[in-house]
Amino acid sequence: MEIEDFISQTISCDSVFPVETIQTLWSGYGEIVRYGLKGETCPSSIVVKSIRPPKQTQHPRGWNTSASHQRKLLSYRVEVNWYKTWSNLCDEGARVPICYGISSHDLGDIPLSSFDAQAQRLEDDSQAIILLSDLDAQGYPLRHQSLTLEQAKVCIEWLACFHGQFMQDSPSDDWPRGLWKTGSYWHLGTREDEYLAMPESPLKLSAHRLDRLLTQTRFKTLVHGDAKVANFCFSDDSLRVAAVDFQYVGGGCGMRDLVYFLGSCLSQQECDQHQASLIDYYFLKLEKTLINKQSTISAGKVEQEWRPLFTLAWADFQRFILGWAPEHHKNNDFSRAMTSQALKYLTKL
Ligand SMILES: Nc1ncnc2c1ncn2[C@@H]1O[C@H](COP(=O)(O)OP(=O)(O)O)[C@@H](O)[C@H]1O
Ligand SMILES: [Mg+2]
Repeated sequence: MEIEDFISQTISCDSVFPVETIQTLWSGYGEIVRYGLKGETCPSSIVVKSIRPPKQTQHPRGWNTSASHQRKLLSYRVEVNWYKTWSNLCDEGARVPICYGISSHDLGDIPLSSFDAQAQRLEDDSQAIILLSDLDAQGYPLRHQSLTLEQAKVCIEWLACFHGQFMQDSPSDDWPRGLWKTGSYWHLGTREDEYLAMPESPLKLSAHRLDRLLTQTRFKTLVHGDAKVANFCFSDDSLRVAAVDFQYVGGGCGMRDLVYFLGSCLSQQECDQHQASLIDYYFLKLEKTLINKQSTISAGKVEQEWRPLFTLAWADFQRFILGWAPEHHKNNDFSRAMTSQALKYLTKL
């Protein structure tokens, strides 16, 4: 279906016109475009994420495997499911765009209970159009590449609200319906190629154990799964944020989001110097969220289980980097130090 027809059928308006392409999607899988709308009751602009996977995939780093193509198709299906049935559960503290409507073909209608690329092969003609509120127009026009500590805390609070909102104690096996059973784009279960590409090392030997410790927690929540600074939209004063890009949202321990976020916005020196206080801040805000939503889950118990997993989550991300792009700047002294610390911790368990 033509995008403009779909918009005017879904949102009552007099006219629709493209304003700008905000971004093409990773490896040519689609694009994000801002549209203007005219009419009395409609918003004056919306943002449309349209997904149309290429038949032939070309990855900037040379990975062109079926696993990566399937993972991406599944990720768009997850994002469709997220906006269909989950996103409206987020409250103000974990602001996300409003979804006005979705048109999808072979993306999203079938529930996805776990990642199994073989069992869930998707067709190459999968398509989706997701109509989202324009966060710029809603008061979140700024993007940042790096953050001050104060700005980082605003996103950490977003993460804590998000994690608190979806916190589960021993969820059943089919949770979270329609999303990744294990969220995050780098977790070991979806990164066999990168694991095989890793040179032999103590980290490689411990990779499955690390993964199990991070995956098989009693307390689980939804992790955003790609919570880098580029996926946050900031208010003019950068005191409020909203997040986008829910392709890798799924079950897991909140530490996965926290380590990946910090690595995306602070220097390694800043991470080293401030990690302890930022982790404290995260757990403080997580407790506040659980209390506010009158959860029966004890923040103290979650913290007891998750706090030691911060270092392990860092090492687990380092495992991905060493298989995917060992020259990446994230393979740095701080990450190596966190990895040694995590491996030492494992020997004491
Ligand atoms: N609803 C929205 N309102 C404003 N900007 C948006 C919205 N959705 C996405 N964007 C902008 O487009 C960028 C790319 O969108 P994203 O969903 O992250 O696509 P990709 O999967 O290619 O990273 C985001 O980083 C953000 O700056
Ligand atoms: Mg993005």
